[in-house]
Amino acid sequence: MANRQPIVAGNWKMNGSQAESAALLTGLKKGLGTVNKAKIVVCPPFILVPLAAKELAGTTAAWGGQNLDTHKSGAFTGEVSGPMLKDFGCSYVIIGHSERRTLFGETDAMVAEKFKAAQDAGLIPILCVGETLSEREANQTEAVVARQLDAVVNTLGIAALANSVVAYEPVWAIGTGKTASPQQAQDVHRFIRGRLAAKDAKVADGMRILYGGSMKAANAKELIGQPDIDGGLIGGASLVADEFLAICRAAD
Ligand code: 13P
Repeated sequence: MANRQPIVAGNWKMNGSQAESAALLTGLKKGLGTVNKAKIVVCPPFILVPLAAKELAGTTAAWGGQNLDTHKSGAFTGEVSGPMLKDFGCSYVIIGHSERRTLFGETDAMVAEKFKAAQDAGLIPILCVGETLSEREANQTEAVVARQLDAVVNTLGIAALANSVVAYEPVWAIGTGKTASPQQAQDVHRFIRGRLAAKDAKVADGMRILYGGSMKAANAKELIGQPDIDGGLIGGASLVADEFLAICRAAD
């Protein structure tokens, strides 16, 4: 099995004033030396990306966007492109978060286009997949995750997945305090890896598959300890430096 470097990414969502964010970044910077192995990624709202870039430049941490537009530039009022994120030193971008899918109408096809736009700009996509509670209760978890994954794999080809990250985020666990049990998460992570392996064993073996959904310091170790869980995509707990750093250490 590949020796996959864990990734812990913080999705700040639409949170943070300049002052709060500066304090959070200062707190993070102070603790970076306590994290050995895990790759740390911070994804602030667009308007705070320059601040993250300034504060994290020259550290071991990377930063990224939470979304991007598929166009490179032009008359797309309110949008931000991949090359613009790259210009501010972003290495990663979250694609297809469930909030984008449900609140902003992103379809599987749009997610595939965004995935490509990210790679075209030299960004590493963090592709989010996951089922709602009703889908889980209807035993549709694997079907939903397969559909979301296949939308990218079948459009862009499995080779496009080689330099990307997948995040499994059960919608019912996001911001609810209800975490998937380590076994529930592991089952879906194994399914995702298996589905990729059916196309390309090497891509599947190297893929970092992150868990997201009410992950915090108290449950991170047990989750990330599962064989197919390679880190976390953290919402609420990424807004508290010490909590986020404790999750990063758990991923070590
Ligand atoms: P919470 O950690 O707040 O549940 O959010 C998870 C998430 O959506 C990360 O992208």
